[in-house]
Amino acid sequence: MNIALLGYGKMGKIIEKIAIDRKHEIVLKIDLDNQDELTAENLQKADVAIEFSTPATVLGNIEHCFNAGVPIVVGTTGWYEQLPQIKQQCETGNNSFIYATNFSVGVNIFFHVNKVLAKLMNKQPYYEVQVEEIHHVQKLDAPSGTAITIAEGILENLDAKKQWVNVLTADGGESVNDSTKADDLLIESYRIDSVPGTHTVIYDSEVDTIEFKHTAHNRNGFALGAVLAAEWITDKKGFFSVKDMFDLS
Ligand SMILES: NC(=O)c1ccc[n+]([C@@H]2O[C@H](COP(=O)([O-])OP(=O)(O)OC[C@H]3O[C@@H](n4cnc5c(N)ncnc54)[C@H](O)[C@@H]3O)[C@@H](O)[C@H]2O)c1
Repeated sequence: MNIALLGYGKMGKIIEKIAIDRKHEIVLKIDLDNQDELTAENLQKADVAIEFSTPATVLGNIEHCFNAGVPIVVGTTGWYEQLPQIKQQCETGNNSFIYATNFSVGVNIFFHVNKVLAKLMNKQPYYEVQVEEIHHVQKLDAPSGTAITIAEGILENLDAKKQWVNVLTADGGESVNDSTKADDLLIESYRIDSVPGTHTVIYDSEVDTIEFKHTAHNRNGFALGAVLAAEWITDKKGFFSVKDMFDLS
């Protein structure tokens, strides 16, 4: 398969290596310094594009792929208010799009079990729940897209919580928001050195604490999932999330 990489940073470079190991060819690499090469003609040399850039640039890159008729896998996080608009554009334009807040297989299993756990805990009013996420200091968005998906899984199943709120603590710095109401689900975000991504769901009561935790050891799991998504989407039309790809039912 021929692949275009849109965003050639930390993730783009690992995706390149994994794609080549899986016998694919990288036919286009776009980053800040060669935007002029992002043309329909160049994109159409690829069977699929994989997008890991920034929240500010992802929408433009999706638009280019839709216009060129090239399926796109989107890993960039921090732009999801625009998702309904992209879904509509994808469907009216008969395009191919798949996204994930987190492409790792382990995290997608975690998402599923998180919902089952929240359903069980809905019957246990003595536990207070919160989500914690830790990422490297260069991460642009907070909370992480993964933490938002975890929080949404809890909100769907736990009646006591109505919306999530975020408290961001930069490396060694002060929290920027520390007011929560009883029906707020708190997501605490920490930015520490080079942590690839750690997410913990904590149910705490007077007598005990239950912690459910996923720790990414490196970025390879995200990159492999993105390449698997690229292989999966090439013969499909429509708007998909990674849940459609991993069969976790
Ligand atoms: N969904 C997942 O599984 C997953 C996993 C890890 C990271 N991410 C997300 O992926 C994104 C990228 O992560 P990263 O760690 O590679 O970041 P990074 O900062 O290392 O790389 C981003 C790259 O995008 C480039 N860029 C800027 N403008 C661009 C444009 N217009 N077109 C193409 N490239 C452009 C930057 O120069 C940089 O090289 C972030 O949003 C991150 O949160 C998602």
